[in-house]
Formats: sequence, structure tokens, C-alpha cells
Amino acid sequence: MSTTATAHTNIALIKYWGKKDPILNLPTTSSISLTLEQFYTQTTVTPNTHSDQLILNNLSVDTTRTHHFLNILREQLGHFSPLTVTSTNHVPTSAGLASSASAFAALTGAVTRELGLIRSNESLSRLARRGSGSASRSLYGHFAVWHEGVDDISSFAESLHAPDMPIALVVAEVSSDVKKVSSSEGMRRAMTSPNYGDWLNQSKNQFVDMQAAVMAKDIEKIGSIAEDNALSMHALNLTARQQAFTYFTSETQQILNIIQDIRHQGLLAFATIDAGPNVKIITTLTTAPHVVAALHDKLPQLHIETATSGSGITYD
Ligand code: PMV
Repeated sequence: MSTTATAHTNIALIKYWGKKDPILNLPTTSSISLTLEQFYTQTTVTPNTHSDQLILNNLSVDTTRTHHFLNILREQLGHFSPLTVTSTNHVPTSAGLASSASAFAALTGAVTRELGLIRSNESLSRLARRGSGSASRSLYGHFAVWHEGVDDISSFAESLHAPDMPIALVVAEVSSDVKKVSSSEGMRRAMTSPNYGDWLNQSKNQFVDMQAAVMAKDIEKIGSIAEDNALSMHALNLTARQQAFTYFTSETQQILNIIQDIRHQGLLAFATIDAGPNVKIITTLTTAPHVVAALHDKLPQLHIETATSGSGITYD
């Protein structure tokens, strides 16, 4: 027998950037995200008699991280036999979006169903969190909140049950030869910034304001809080006392300037950036084509994709 699950990736509007427990992936802040319809991972698990195996986009790849995660699931759900995990990422690597959120959410769902267990999404979010923190939010469609919690039980994600709204996310892919600092390593360094405590306090307030903006369908407010939150997160990286660094390239900075310019021209456009140089622009469905045109006008080579609000985990 085998089981297939599909989970979409998500973009954090209030970021997770720091762990208070690196084993359990307990974050230092609660976070809020938007799930993206166009970017997802489809994962099938099939029992085998040898060892855990990962086939990603039709290629047999290194299984270390998957095997480690499957062992956590074995601890939590009871022992199960080795699995062949066949995953297809419909997250264009060119879009520079991390696929770990959708990947660990889909894998958690597929394994649980394969074992014949029916678990709530809340309970799946606790498990997915162990693979990658942001995966806890990818069980849900549209807007999700991940409560930081103080232990394994209290750190879980749930749907915000937000009203429908015409939000869109324009993803601008920035080419980079710079060696990537992993999100775990980036968080570890950022926590050495003397500004980290201030960031935590600011994030608490932004978390409350973001929930209100989402419930009010105020896309301008959502964008403006998300941009503030993301830029202060990146300021932590620059001010880290240990191994300060940045994910920004000159092209990242150029795109940020273009976004500011078009905002001054009256378009609704706000930037957010994750553990890489790519810029994601929060806008509305009707403004998105204008944002794309403005970016293409200044940077004709730029690879751009537009995403909309997406659905939660599904099973075949
Ligand atoms: O879940 P991880 O370990 O890939 O970390 C995600 C970190 C950010 O994408 C920068 C922020 C977030 O909340 O998704």
C-alpha cells in the first residue's frame, strides 16, 4: 500500500527567526503566514524492506534529513517499517522559495495516513514542526498562525479563519552565487545581535496588529507590517555579534528600491524576504500585473512568478 499527500508552501508575514529549543524547534516568537496556491509538494510513501529512501523530483538523493525526521515520527507514532518517500516539488527552485515547509508538511500527512492514524491538523503541525519549523503552518490553507508555546504540546499551528481577500504575492528571483547560510545557522547568529531583545518585543506587537489587519482584510496594513517585520529580521543578521552576515545582494537592494518607488507612485506593494536574496512582494490581485511590469521595466532579466492564497493539506 502507499499514501499520497499534497501540501503547499507558505510565506511568513510575521517571521520565525530564532529557536528557544533547537531539538523541538520551539520558536522565540509566534508567527503568521500565507499559504501559496501555486507552490506545493506532492509526496507518496511506500513501505519497503530495506531502509528509508528519498526520491526527489525523480532522482535518488541524500536521505539523512528525511531519515532523521522519520525516526522522530517513529518515536512519536510507534514503530513503522522503512519507507520509500517519493516527492515532487512544484516549487520552482528558480522562484527561490524554500520547499522544506511544504515537504515536511506533506511527509507528515502521508506517513500518518499510511499508518491508518487519523490525527487533527493541529497534532500534525506539532509533528511537522520537528522537520522544519515553518512546516507547522503548511498544513493549513490561506492564513495560519503558529503559537510559539513553551513545550512540544503548546507549540502548534492553526488556521486564522480569515475572511477571503484579493491578496497576491509576486516572487522576484534574484540570482546569487553567494553561499547560502542555512535558516538554522542564520537564526543562531541573529540571536547574538544586541538588538534581538528589541526585535522580540516588536514582533509581539506586530503579531497582534497583523492578526487584526488580516481579519479586517486590510492588505495595505498586512503588507506594511510584514515589510517592517522582515527588514528588522534582516537587520539582526547584519548586527549579529557572531558572524554577522546578510542574505541581500545588490539586486535584492535594487528591487527594494523599485518597490519603494512604485509605492510612492501609489501602487500597493510591500516587500518581504526570507533566508535568501529573493524578494516577495505583497500586493493585490489587480495590482500584481502592474508590479510585475514595473519590475520587468527596470530589470528585464528578472524571473518573476505570481502566487495567490492557497489551500491546506490534501490526500489522494
Ligand atoms: O522553517 P525553517 O527552518 O526553514 O525557517 C524558516 C525561516 C523563515 O522562512 C525566514 C521565516 C519563516 O517564518 O518562515
